[in-house]
Amino acid sequence: MISTPPRSRVLLTGATGFLGRALAAELEARGAEVHALVRASSHTTGLRATCHVVDLLDVARLEPLVAHVDYVIHAAGGGRDPDPAGLWRSNTMTTEALVRAIRDVAARPRSFVFVSSVAACGPLGGSGLVTAYGRAKRAGEAALETLPDETPWTVLRPPGIIGPGDARMLPLFRAARAGVVPFPRGQRALSFVYVDCCARAIADAALLDPPRGGIYYPTDGRIWSPSQVAEALGEAVGTRPRVLRVPRSALKAAATLAELTHRRSSRPLFLTRDKARELVQEDWSCDPSSLQRELGWQPEVDLVEGARRTAAALVDAGLLAPA
Ligand SMILES: NC(=O)c1ccc[n+]([C@@H]2O[C@H](COP(=O)([O-])OP(=O)(O)OC[C@H]3O[C@@H](n4cnc5c(N)ncnc54)[C@H](OP(=O)(O)O)[C@@H]3O)[C@@H](O)[C@H]2O)c1
Repeated sequence: MISTPPRSRVLLTGATGFLGRALAAELEARGAEVHALVRASSHTTGLRATCHVVDLLDVARLEPLVAHVDYVIHAAGGGRDPDPAGLWRSNTMTTEALVRAIRDVAARPRSFVFVSSVAACGPLGGSGLVTAYGRAKRAGEAALETLPDETPWTVLRPPGIIGPGDARMLPLFRAARAGVVPFPRGQRALSFVYVDCCARAIADAALLDPPRGGIYYPTDGRIWSPSQVAEALGEAVGTRPRVLRVPRSALKAAATLAELTHRRSSRPLFLTRDKARELVQEDWSCDPSSLQRELGWQPEVDLVEGARRTAAALVDAGLLAPA
């Protein structure tokens, strides 16, 4: 593990999210002073970081904040917005604004880490980017190239992140409990990373001195087939589910329906048409070896254990019936 230089100040976006909370805790455990940039609507309960309410597109407000810190970690964003303009705003424009703010100030951070996604490189063996989310993340990555030399940057491209504190996998756990886990026809390889392992990788990349820069893929080190994923989920909920192969057209139709019904609901949206375009790809596996080699990072929790911990947390939260 890479230790924190004394009295380091880290500016963190997305600290109120699933990954961001784990990241804030990881940085604090390493002795960093964490400054979280949050929205007025963000739920900050339980967050120990110093919170600053700021619009991430407001460059003038960002300038004094980036000038005050040693490191910037931009983890805000995500792929849940069904509107491509929203994906662009939270993943690309926020990154561009942070980069501009750093360019505008004299006292610059020692490094910038951008939490991107495997979606930004497209599926393995595919013909490029397949989602609006992937394009937005890739454009965010491109903005980093205009950072001044004093602020070297690193990109982390996680695959699916699993762990307590997130209900996105809930429909799959419920399906595993019912004995049948649906996967799109043709999908054959996936990678996963446990949330705390991912947070450790990001903290390592940010705090490495001198920074190395580069693009890294934090994963649990294994490539999972749909039947192995179903087995892991089943083990976590006490069943031996089978895999049901769903035609791609059915998944796309389900996503369209989910978007339409979501307009009248305040509940989180799990499946969008953009997400469906991602899910129907064959191979989303990725390779963590450069992260292991260059930063000495190692995954500690694999999908099986991660699924077990996630299911236990969902049961504790009353979202999943006990086994
Ligand atoms: N979860 C995964 O499987 C996965 C995989 C690969 C990459 N990633 C990336 O990892 C990062 C964290 O994902 P997550 O799963 O933790 O997502 P999450 O739980 O939905 O949290 C998203 C965080 O970003 C903030 N945010 C989103 N849009 C924003 C905007 N326009 N302005 C300011 N803050 C904004 C949210 O603030 P509020 O609390 O105010 O909503 C929240 O703190 C994202 O960049 C995502 O793209 C996630």
